[in-house]
Amino acid sequence: MKALIIGGTSAIGEGIARCLAAMKYRVDFTYHSNTEKAKSLGEALGDDHHSVRVDLSDVSEVSKFVASLNAASAPDVLINVAGITHDALSVGNIGADLARVAQINFLAPASICARVVELMMPRRCGSIINVTSIASKMPRVGNAAYGSTKAALERFTATLAIEVARYKVRTLCIAPGFVDTPMFHAFAGDRRKDIIKNLPLREILAVDDVVNSVAAFVGGKIKTTGTTLYLTNGQSVL
Ligand SMILES: NC(=O)c1ccc[n+]([C@@H]2O[C@H](COP(=O)([O-])OP(=O)(O)OC[C@H]3O[C@@H](n4cnc5c(N)ncnc54)[C@H](OP(=O)(O)O)[C@@H]3O)[C@@H](O)[C@H]2O)c1
Repeated sequence: MKALIIGGTSAIGEGIARCLAAMKYRVDFTYHSNTEKAKSLGEALGDDHHSVRVDLSDVSEVSKFVASLNAASAPDVLINVAGITHDALSVGNIGADLARVAQINFLAPASICARVVELMMPRRCGSIINVTSIASKMPRVGNAAYGSTKAALERFTATLAIEVARYKVRTLCIAPGFVDTPMFHAFAGDRRKDIIKNLPLREILAVDDVVNSVAAFVGGKIKTTGTTLYLTNGQSVL
């Protein structure tokens, strides 16, 4: 069984890669700038894996990567984890920034899903997980670009699910609240304590909390398709 992780060098992606390898998947992954992490993760995964650098902000690189996927390399499990935040007011000339966030967080993973699902359909099985965020449901000052691109990916994933359900390909979005990773550290800075104090649970998620949900879906312990699993720190996302 093969798994493909887009963004294996993210804190969450690395956790998922190690977990799926322990579940006996052959894990391939993409990365962008973190060659050191790609190397150490590759070593941990052993010889039987493939990693490739793909800049998801570059439409032609994404097209090239999508075109490189074929029946022989097709994964049984696809996880889109790579993503960027962009904290800014939605005022003024936002077009270029919005386009970049949309390309990385929505258009690239959606394009990769579309190709991988095409390869999964003849096999009549497959699991696709897209990591989104509770920001898709929770407007906050400065998170319009990030939240709306995550919402778009959830909506895309829901439609994809009903288009391919008869081929037994299942999809899930996992939408975490704050997770203890470099992305959260960069966002929180010296406000970390205050942010956590203001969460209903007074704690943030660990990488393993997300990884465990991935393992449960991939392992068939969560039976659903087209839905989004919100892993919150107590915030209401209704
Ligand atoms: N941490 C949180 O609090 C939190 C909460 C909710 C949702 N999420 C979501 O969870 C996912 C992983 O988050 P994380 O905290 O583990 O992230 P992270 O450690 O900051 O890693 C970000 C990942 O995105 C990749 N990436 C960034 N720009 C890229 C580009 N232009 N092309 C290709 N890849 C690119 C990075 O690759 P390189 O490192 O190789 O450059 C890295 O693998 C993201 O989608 C994020 O939105 C995170």
